[in-house]
Amino acid sequence: MKKIKVGIIGAGGISHFHIEAYKTIPEVEVVAICDPNEAKLSFVAEKFGILKRFENWENIINENLDIVSICSPNAFHAQQSIAALKSGKHVICEKPVAINVEETESIINTVQQTNNKFMVAFCHRFASHSQFIKKMVENNQMGEIYFAKASCLRRRGIPGLGTWFTTKKLAGGGPLIDIGVHILDLAVYLMGCPDPRLVVGVTYNKFKNQAVDGGWPPIWSRVGDKPTGVFDVEDLAAGFIKFNNNATLFLEASWAGNSESGLKIALMGTKNGVQYWTEATPPLRVYGEMNGVVTDTIAEFPPVNTYRAEIEHFVNCVRNNTQPITTPKEILTVVKIIEGIYRSAETGRPVELT
Ligand SMILES: NC(=O)c1ccc[n+]([C@@H]2O[C@H](COP(=O)([O-])OP(=O)(O)OC[C@H]3O[C@@H](n4cnc5c(N)ncnc54)[C@H](O)[C@@H]3O)[C@@H](O)[C@H]2O)c1
Repeated sequence: MKKIKVGIIGAGGISHFHIEAYKTIPEVEVVAICDPNEAKLSFVAEKFGILKRFENWENIINENLDIVSICSPNAFHAQQSIAALKSGKHVICEKPVAINVEETESIINTVQQTNNKFMVAFCHRFASHSQFIKKMVENNQMGEIYFAKASCLRRRGIPGLGTWFTTKKLAGGGPLIDIGVHILDLAVYLMGCPDPRLVVGVTYNKFKNQAVDGGWPPIWSRVGDKPTGVFDVEDLAAGFIKFNNNATLFLEASWAGNSESGLKIALMGTKNGVQYWTEATPPLRVYGEMNGVVTDTIAEFPPVNTYRAEIEHFVNCVRNNTQPITTPKEILTVVKIIEGIYRSAETGRPVELT
């Protein structure tokens, strides 16, 4: 069988996880990689034996490839996704898909024009607990989901302090667009992607003068990086979202703050409620009722390598001509909510989205 050829744009921390996942699939070959940081480019290319190496990402677009993994800073995602799709490649793009709604709509239009596969690397969807909850929703075991809470909180965990991560024009924002995006996407996916109607948002930056680097990207991957020291994004954001079907979602994300930490999603339905929280033992609990008595059910799952699962899923979509798990509507809804929260925080007013 003809091998599926892959190219990687951006040789930073997350690229290692993409490449390791591709390497577990026998009919896939990672043949090219690019990064403007020459030292990092050589480090990753040598580690994984990738022969074609470019400092300019446009060279990847001109290569004969089937799939491109976009692992660059957020501000480049739209431009690079669109160029790769137009040159006939299937694209898996790291989260966030882009830094605003306008860019996201351009990507989705290009996907529709080219008919190539496009997926956002929302790896949390592939976790066992996420799929367990999704099945509960699909089998109508939740009833009507009318209230949800989603949080991704770190006490001291600012990624790449002083690099592109903390620079608004390159990242688009702080923890909301960096890690809040994962849990927001999961909530939107599990709630069946209702249309958001109204958003109220707030952002804070209280740790500017006592910021602690959170250890991501892994220190060993930061070869040749030259931090500029910029930190002009929030360190905490929260939003309250009302949907057209009258469901509501409370969302919070922090890189730093004096609170509990971990990733949590809680959905309240008319038949059952469910909560997953990384810090609980066991992490997943279903809140129900049996014979007029309230009941708690616990569920335990084997761990899943979610990066490997997402790459396997995308390769299968390309191979079998099936649709990736992230739909255009879900992709756009997540960005609309994020943009709405930032706009509301800036203006101090609720933002109508429809
Ligand atoms: N899915 C996840 O759980 C997850 C985890 C971490 C990061 N990410 C995402 O992956 C992306 C990369 O993050 P990272 O942690 O690897 O960051 P990183 O800083 O380790 O790597 C980014 C790399 O991109 C390179 N780069 C800069 N400008 C570029 C350009 N124009 N074209 C190509 N490459 C360019 C940098 O030199 C750097 O090597 C981000 O969008 C981030 O949000 C996702």
